[in-house]
Amino acid sequence: MTRVRIPLARPSLDESEVNAVRRVLASGWVVQGREAEAFERAIASLHQARHAVVVSSGTAALHLCYLALDIGPGDAVFIPSFAWPSAANSAVLVGARPIFVDVCPDSYNLDPDDLEKKIGQCLQADLGVPRAVIVVHEFGLATELGRILQLAQQFDMQVVEDAACALGASLGGRPVGTAGCMGVFSFHPRKAVTTGEGGAIVTNDDALADRCRILRNHGQQLSSERRDFVAAGLNYRMTDIQAAIGLAQFEKLPRVLAARKEIARQYLREFSDCAGMTLPASHPEHTWQTFMLVLDAEFDRDAIVAELAEHGIGAGPGSVAAHCGAIYQSRFGYRPEELPISAKLASQGLALPVYEGLEASEVAACATLVRQAIERQRPSGLR
Ligand SMILES: Cc1ncc(COP(=O)(O)O)c(C=O)c1O
Repeated sequence: MTRVRIPLARPSLDESEVNAVRRVLASGWVVQGREAEAFERAIASLHQARHAVVVSSGTAALHLCYLALDIGPGDAVFIPSFAWPSAANSAVLVGARPIFVDVCPDSYNLDPDDLEKKIGQCLQADLGVPRAVIVVHEFGLATELGRILQLAQQFDMQVVEDAACALGASLGGRPVGTAGCMGVFSFHPRKAVTTGEGGAIVTNDDALADRCRILRNHGQQLSSERRDFVAAGLNYRMTDIQAAIGLAQFEKLPRVLAARKEIARQYLREFSDCAGMTLPASHPEHTWQTFMLVLDAEFDRDAIVAELAEHGIGAGPGSVAAHCGAIYQSRFGYRPEELPISAKLASQGLALPVYEGLEASEVAACATLVRQAIERQRPSGLR
């Protein structure tokens, strides 16, 4: 097997994280404590939220959002299909039905036209309108929320922002996360800030924040005098070891986001005249958690990924179309062609390396190999 020279992602970890972990270990307090509280303050301040609640993963954060909103059996939730299926899986786990919505072909974010169409279909079928709409800020590009918020208000739906990939992202200067009732982040190593595994919920709603804190900690309501188990909760706590790593990572966030932006700009330049692909929507506030272009249907994405791997370059699909997952096809009857944009992005999307420390010469080398692979596959006569 060829050695990976240029991985798809690489977290920016160095002595500062090592020292942070050492500090926590030396303190003897390794479960959730002061470091987690400090990390919550840092997240809340970055995203201009009243509360941040750190948890063990982005998926745990989404699960808690549903539980905090009392979404359960008999309820439905609108979810964009083209996204990691955590929001859909968590909906199923609480007994709710995910209703997938298609996305826009260049932003990869929820398509408000399709949302409106799906609301109409729910009403026509006498199903009632789902309790919530999950908005994914895919790959760090904030979704335009205007019409979605209007529809949510009109039909009394909660809006939850899945900003797993969008730490530090904003739109028109407003950070993502608090336009709806809650926002969710992930600190998986492919994200701009990592804690190994980890996640957070942000909210301006005191009661929801309180509920999330109780649910992440075994359902306990704690006060100085007593402890009471007021809900059937989980253990979704983040350890202080993880939180200390997150705090060290936060120091680097401006640098990491600037590096990602520069790399994305270079890819956009390198491919600007390359026929056979659609480039991702670019926006000055995009944080480029992933750089994914979309190949035209005649190209074999997986063969290109394999060719790049032979050169030691980590490329891959950008994400998945959740509605194409076996569980969603067998249990809910979805067919890939029902949400054609999501299905196409999942089969033709090509994600290329993006991380702080990736050299301009390496970006150029990746781009050259992609262009050469496309030329080799291009049907003769098509240029
Ligand atoms: C859009 C989206 N939501 C949720 C998650 C889940 O986050 P985690 O891996 O921290 O559970 C991811 C992870 O990649 C994601 O991309």
